[in-house]
Amino acid sequence: MTLVTDLTSRKADTAAPLIDPLADRWSPRAFDPDAVVETETLRTILEAARWAPSANNSQPWRFIVARRGTEAFATLHDKMAGFNQEWADSAAVLVVNIAETVDAEGRDRPWARYDLGQAVAHLTVQAQHEGLHTHQMGGFDAAAIHDAFGLPESQEVVSITTIGALGDVDRLPEVLREREVAPRQRKTLGEFVTVGE
Ligand SMILES: Cc1cc2nc3c(=O)[nH]c(=O)nc-3n(C[C@H](O)[C@H](O)[C@H](O)COP(=O)(O)O)c2cc1C
Repeated sequence: MTLVTDLTSRKADTAAPLIDPLADRWSPRAFDPDAVVETETLRTILEAARWAPSANNSQPWRFIVARRGTEAFATLHDKMAGFNQEWADSAAVLVVNIAETVDAEGRDRPWARYDLGQAVAHLTVQAQHEGLHTHQMGGFDAAAIHDAFGLPESQEVVSITTIGALGDVDRLPEVLREREVAPRQRKTLGEFVTVGE
């Protein structure tokens, strides 16, 4: 197994050419604990989410943004699974990704989580373009975060995105360091694409 130690590029070994932000995106655990994301950059990243497509243009995504050092950040960190707490404290920003699964008239929005995922994908690609990295997570107590931020029943906490600048891999605990430098793997296109006759 070849270990990759230069983490400035974990570029995807693609089977067809991709635009740079897609090929360059990967999910680090080693974030720079001193890096700050400028407000304008954060705005640009969220603007990318804003312009994502959604079912009937319902835009059922909601985001809570928490910078490192704030009470909101500490609350979120506290509700994460231990294996995420170990690395996520050095991210500059945490974004809670929330789906509004019921509209104002009480009707279900069956595509709300799908739309949220698409908005988050936009956000991650824009962040990459801005020279930052993102790492999404599902390992946290969603109900506790829902309560802590007083969210309504119609909203569901789905995931959290960490945003920050790449940090020093040697500062990670050994187990996480090993994962950080392991080769990136994907299924082949043939394993998940069926071409209709
Ligand atoms: C919905 C979702 C939940 C995830 N949950 C976690 C998590 O709890 N902890 C973690 O370290 N990574 C988590 N990840 C990151 C994935 O493990 C990662 O995206 C995947 O291994 C592919 O690696 P790459 O993003 O570097 O290409 C999550 C990603 C997504 C999209």
